[in-house]
Amino acid sequence: MQHLMSPLDLSVEELDRLLTLANDIERNPQKYAHACAGKKLATCFYEPSTRTRLSFEAAMLNLGGSILGFSSADSSSAAKGESVSDTIRVISCYADICAMRHPKEGAPLVASEKSKIPVINAGDGGHQHPTQTLTDLLTIRSLKGRLDNLTIGLCGDLKFGRTVHSLIHALIRYPNIKFLLISPEELRVPSYIREDVLHKNNVPFQEVERLEDAMGALDILYMTRVQKERFFNEDDYVRMKDFYILNKKKMALAKDDMIVMHPLPRVNEISVEVDDDPRAAYFRQAQYGVYVRMALILTLLEVEVC
Ligand code: NCD
Repeated sequence: MQHLMSPLDLSVEELDRLLTLANDIERNPQKYAHACAGKKLATCFYEPSTRTRLSFEAAMLNLGGSILGFSSADSSSAAKGESVSDTIRVISCYADICAMRHPKEGAPLVASEKSKIPVINAGDGGHQHPTQTLTDLLTIRSLKGRLDNLTIGLCGDLKFGRTVHSLIHALIRYPNIKFLLISPEELRVPSYIREDVLHKNNVPFQEVERLEDAMGALDILYMTRVQKERFFNEDDYVRMKDFYILNKKKMALAKDDMIVMHPLPRVNEISVEVDDDPRAAYFRQAQYGVYVRMALILTLLEVEVC
């Protein structure tokens, strides 16, 4: 039985198969409409989410399966003091697969150790968000036609943004990837990513503060929200929250075939005037999130569709 805790749980070959399956689902949704009939997905969300939870639920419903779960810690037995290990043992009796989001780093991993069903990490604190990474990789591969030879600008809250951490881990496995890490000093990527991931693997990267200085070089601009819920103090958040605002003027500095991505939700970091730019890919990215989660559910449940 396979779980998904980090994007690195899948080899490059497995990932390639998964993305190809997701593209087939996109082209032939009918073929998969009953693939998970009789199967149940539990969504155990101890932290708020709209698109991750709903995209998991949409994915299972599109496969003809059913869903159950909870969407906040208050509405689960966690409020009574139950551990995630106990909760997953019980959920294993009710469902065939579980997607878990938790504010504590490592909680889904602890759950997976006691689980009798595949567990998917749907975001653990400021740590990892592997299914957003699968979404991002599918978006990049589908819109740019490749996962290698890319210059990627990651912009915003690189300290707390778990989608950024997971995406860096996943992309460094492809040849000729360069990163421009665009953030204010206080929100730079954590040193374990800089040292243990980027330096250690000899991945070229540059840290810059001004978005304007990076724009022209990028194949992909990945914008992120300042992660309000992970700040210790409101004043720091208020000072940082509007540090970057992507607008038409800044878009004019970018290549014609650059794409703008964002895991969403957006706050102010992308002005709505950018939404009509053909290079704005963030809503298409949300759609790819459903296809890739369908592919992941099929893969972890070992369902073959001929
Ligand atoms: C991201 C997350 O939860 O980390 N959202 C998502 O899953 N689409 C990004 C964010 O909340 O800023």
